[in-house]
Amino acid sequence: MVRKRTSIHGEWTSRWAFILAATGSAVGLGNIWKFPYITGENGGGAFVLVYLICIALIGIPIMMAEVMIGRRGRQSPVNTMYTLGIESGSTPHWKWLGWLGVVAGFLILSYYSVIAGWALDYIFKMASGTFTGANADFVSSTFGSFVKSPLSLIFWHSVFMLMTMFVVARGVNGGLEKAVRFLMPGLFILLIIMVGYAVTTGEFMRGLQFLFEPNFDNLLYKHEAGGKFILTDQGEKIFTLEYVLIAMGHAFFTLSLGMGAIMIYGSYLPNKTSIAKTSIIIAAADTLVALLAGMAIFPIVFANQLDPSAGPGLIFSTLPLAFGNMPGGTLFGTLFFILLVFAAWSSSISLIEPAVAWLVENKGMKRLKASVLMGVACWLVGMLTVLSFNVWEKVYPFNFWVFKNKTFFDVLDYLTANIMLPLGGLLIAIFSVWIMSTDSSSDELEMKQSALSFNIWYFMTRYITPIAVIFVFANLLGFI
Ligand code: TRP
Repeated sequence: MVRKRTSIHGEWTSRWAFILAATGSAVGLGNIWKFPYITGENGGGAFVLVYLICIALIGIPIMMAEVMIGRRGRQSPVNTMYTLGIESGSTPHWKWLGWLGVVAGFLILSYYSVIAGWALDYIFKMASGTFTGANADFVSSTFGSFVKSPLSLIFWHSVFMLMTMFVVARGVNGGLEKAVRFLMPGLFILLIIMVGYAVTTGEFMRGLQFLFEPNFDNLLYKHEAGGKFILTDQGEKIFTLEYVLIAMGHAFFTLSLGMGAIMIYGSYLPNKTSIAKTSIIIAAADTLVALLAGMAIFPIVFANQLDPSAGPGLIFSTLPLAFGNMPGGTLFGTLFFILLVFAAWSSSISLIEPAVAWLVENKGMKRLKASVLMGVACWLVGMLTVLSFNVWEKVYPFNFWVFKNKTFFDVLDYLTANIMLPLGGLLIAIFSVWIMSTDSSSDELEMKQSALSFNIWYFMTRYITPIAVIFVFANLLGFI
């Protein structure tokens, strides 16, 4: 049996270090910025329910599969898939799955960095008391004029990309591990304070209702952001699984799955660590952060008659309102955006780590050179997102199919989160149970083949995940 490879990039010092790093990767803008705004756009409760089901039934099994594959291969995803493809008696072409992930990570980081730049800017806006006593109009128009300025966006995007390059160049298992240890709990405590404030707005129950009371019409029929149904000529609603796809895509996005990020973190994981338990802890922590963010934001939205489907600006036009009007708001607000930037930082690193590790392994590059190369390329692609919020606000580059009326930013987001990640996840699932032998997988997961937990994982990964992803894709492609 082939076993006990070691990674040339180093290893986490303990199981906790891995949990912290993987949680650091999972918890980020996806939880605090994206989850609330897509929940708002897609009508609330039913969307959240599907998202939660996807986390449990698809997210956790795929996370286990990714960590397992990563630890067995102990290289960058491209080389891991290549090696394991051959080792399993299949083909080395599985490396293309690694490449799909490299491209997805690269594209995600290009816009992720721009949005993280917004959070950077808001640290200074909060600290200087811009929002003290502000009303909803002022907060929205401040955000509006901020994103209308390409130069400000480029500046903060550059700062964030430099921060990312800095850590990746030093190797992910250096300082990052220590930082996450303090920052994650900090973010968590601040979110609880925010939820506490939301209780005082008077609309807390309405916020909860919006988040947790399912309305399946909003999920299953075509509608505009905000809820108005789009009808056929006969005046009937149009069935679609697109919003289910968005919920599923977000489950992948928020857990950092489907592109090799968790795979490469798994490749630095010491042997003799329970992959199942670890994955469940990470998924639970990630979900909790997202739900807390939702519970903090929607009561503020309703108390101020704001629009829940306001889009990517949602948290920037709601949270400052709360901070501006609560005791100690300047301090809490500043801290909140600092922590949000750290959360985004520990995520962004995992987005280019697979590409950088590949350059080091295959091109013999130094980490520094590889990081700079990838960072600069990604920074350039980020310009498409920068311009999507101002100069090219009305430019729809691929005006067909699901990309209709979407800006560059929207296209990048849709393509990566809703298509590339589920596709990557599907292939990872197929590889781990249809191609790898059960001897290898049960050995690496450290579960007996007869154990219930192994069989649950196996069943989910073999049937549930592939069927769910294929079903939703088939709907999108017009087959059902
Ligand atoms: N999960 C992160 C978030 O929610 C983003 C992220 C980091 C990611 N690494 C990833 C998303 C890999 C997809 C794939 O903010």
